[in-house]
Amino acid sequence: MVDIAERFVDLPAGIKPFLAPPPTDVIRWTVGEPGFDTPQPIVEAAIESLNAGKTKYTRSEGSLELCEATANRLQERYGIPTTAESIIITPGAKQALLYTFMVCCEPGDEVILLAPAWPSYDIQCRMMQLNPIHVPVNKDNFHPNIEAIEAAITSKTKMLVINSPNNPTGAVYTPAEVEDLLKIAKKHDLWLISDEIYARLNWTGWDHLSPASLEGGAERVIVITGWSKSFAMTGWRIGLVSGPSKVIGAMGKLQANACSHIPSFLMDAALAALTSEIDDAVEEFKRAYLARRQILMDGIAAIDGLSMPEPEGAFYGFVDITETGMDSTTFATKALNDAKVQLIPGGLLEGGEGFVRISYACDEDTLHEGLSRISNWLDSI
Ligand SMILES: Cc1ncc(COP(=O)(O)O)c(C=O)c1O
Repeated sequence: MVDIAERFVDLPAGIKPFLAPPPTDVIRWTVGEPGFDTPQPIVEAAIESLNAGKTKYTRSEGSLELCEATANRLQERYGIPTTAESIIITPGAKQALLYTFMVCCEPGDEVILLAPAWPSYDIQCRMMQLNPIHVPVNKDNFHPNIEAIEAAITSKTKMLVINSPNNPTGAVYTPAEVEDLLKIAKKHDLWLISDEIYARLNWTGWDHLSPASLEGGAERVIVITGWSKSFAMTGWRIGLVSGPSKVIGAMGKLQANACSHIPSFLMDAALAALTSEIDDAVEEFKRAYLARRQILMDGIAAIDGLSMPEPEGAFYGFVDITETGMDSTTFATKALNDAKVQLIPGGLLEGGEGFVRISYACDEDTLHEGLSRISNWLDSI
């Protein structure tokens, strides 16, 4: 009987089983998506663009105007030396990542991921017949263990993937760590993929540092980011990749033949997000996330048996549940059934056992209610 490709047969499902929309009486702490509507000027830009007839094929890398504005934004905000020609606008950051694995790696290559890592990296590697190598981060603060990364490098290692601010741990790497990670990539001649989708959501005292902005970064760092998280645009599916010209040249052919481009009328909406008016909206979102983060930190500190390193960025808390004596899947399953709170068991991610992930992007009432349910449930057992 004709069959699907072997590598897809047992492909892991990642965190998908725990992302299913729960019954309405359940507090949903799982989805990694801003608890805000897309700012109205962005919505209006899409509608105007549709009304103006931007419904035809267009430049497959993304409109020149959008690529230029994006390049300026990356340069001005993060010092990344990029140009409109070094950028491709993709259907979400997720697809930009898939393109990166496709274009930069051969089957059998090893890709170093810092565990626990966002699960799509591992799954995409497997789709491309690459070997994801999970190197654990330091458990006390979720920052990279530089010696362990070096020790994991073999003759087959092709790429190192980093993600700061991080999903699922909330860690934001220090400038010194980012420099060290680039040094490793240079020393071992690796691609360094820097997933910076949460760059705006940094609660530390240091600024977000992209390795692409450092000396020697331009030729080996591939920056992935997008509109989903900062601008509350998850459903719009707009991401981008910025990288060296040989990578972008190959990806241009890939995108042209895979999906042509993102919907033409969404390019104007993406452009509308890069204005100072929308910057103000993002600052409002950030103030709200900070208040929510504090509620989560205070709430977790008050519950016996739970602890959480301070979330430094993004909108996730990674909570240590080991003192409860439950493994993370048991904890999450019971939390769902008994406390009516849905969260992600860290054990679904390599290196994440002993923790559960909470997204604090939900509103303050939902956070308070979830915390009181978890507290009451744990007190009752
Ligand atoms: C670390 C990380 N990278 C990339 C993505 C994908 O973003 P997009 O919605 O742009 O595909 C996500 C989404 O959850 C993420 O958490």
